[in-house]
Amino acid sequence: MPTPIDPRGKDNPSTYFVQSQHDEAEMIRLLLQDQFITAGMDGVLAGLERPETFQRVLDVACGPGGWVLETAVHYPTMQITGIDISWRMIEYARAQTQARRLSRQVDFQVMDAMRPLEFADDTFDLVNMRFASSFLHLNEWSSILRDLLRVARPGGTVRVTESGSDQTGGPTSSSPTYERMLGMLLCAGEKAGYSDNPRRWGVAHRLDELLTEAGCQQVQMRPYHLEFVAGTAAGESIYQDAMYMFQNTRPLIDKWDCGSPDYQDLYQQMLVEMQLPGFHVFWNLSSAWGTKATD
Ligand SMILES: C[S@@+](CC[C@H](N)C(=O)[O-])C[C@H]1O[C@@H](n2cnc3c(N)ncnc32)[C@H](O)[C@@H]1O
Repeated sequence: MPTPIDPRGKDNPSTYFVQSQHDEAEMIRLLLQDQFITAGMDGVLAGLERPETFQRVLDVACGPGGWVLETAVHYPTMQITGIDISWRMIEYARAQTQARRLSRQVDFQVMDAMRPLEFADDTFDLVNMRFASSFLHLNEWSSILRDLLRVARPGGTVRVTESGSDQTGGPTSSSPTYERMLGMLLCAGEKAGYSDNPRRWGVAHRLDELLTEAGCQQVQMRPYHLEFVAGTAAGESIYQDAMYMFQNTRPLIDKWDCGSPDYQDLYQQMLVEMQLPGFHVFWNLSSAWGTKATD
């Protein structure tokens, strides 16, 4: 019998790639990452047809709520719900909702997306989920996508976004040490079951196929190419992301024996290389979306 979900108290166990002792640092990383990823995707709903017609929107695994709150500001007639398994993330998102006076438009709930979602069938005009490969193992994608489709209304849209594309598995950089650290993380990702290949994380290269198999119609895929160069604001963002990422994920890397005895030295070396003139990271993302049948 599954452990009941605890909306308060200590954080809920999950398969997230960062475990709870690093929550604070991970929340900071997610807040920073949300900003540059949404900007790199040309905004919260870029590419979707007539987003202003969506009335009810669900964001699955919303983290500290950055995407939900920004969407609410851009589309003041939408009702938006964010769910996440972490009550700490949800508490933070709720505090931001109040501070930004968005309570009439936005609500956040603690919920496990790996169980059937606690929403009625046919509820949402848009169901959005970004970076779920951080907690979904390969064999869990089909069932979660079917459940996202269940809670979308007929004619509604399901959109998923992941790091990587059919060309690359995620970020690539000019720093040999960044590449080495990334290699350790990818090694852990494969051994833990988030991917089937040590050169990429997750399922970005076949998001369209997965959505089609789950029953989505008119599936489309869109790639995004983000570039971060040292000495620019984007370069500073990716520096901060790496600074948190390779500390927060170290327990996962160690657990799967993918690390190195000189991990901490490599980490420091990476931070130095990331500040050298000419340092850059290219990061491909992919979104796929489709609609739920109306019959
Ligand atoms: C990489 S973050 C992405 C946050 C947000 N979607 C974004 O793109 O900025 C993944 C989130 O999934 C949440 N998570 C992990 N396991 C989950 C589960 N079983 N159900 C719901 N959320 C989960 C984590 O707490 C974390 O906030």
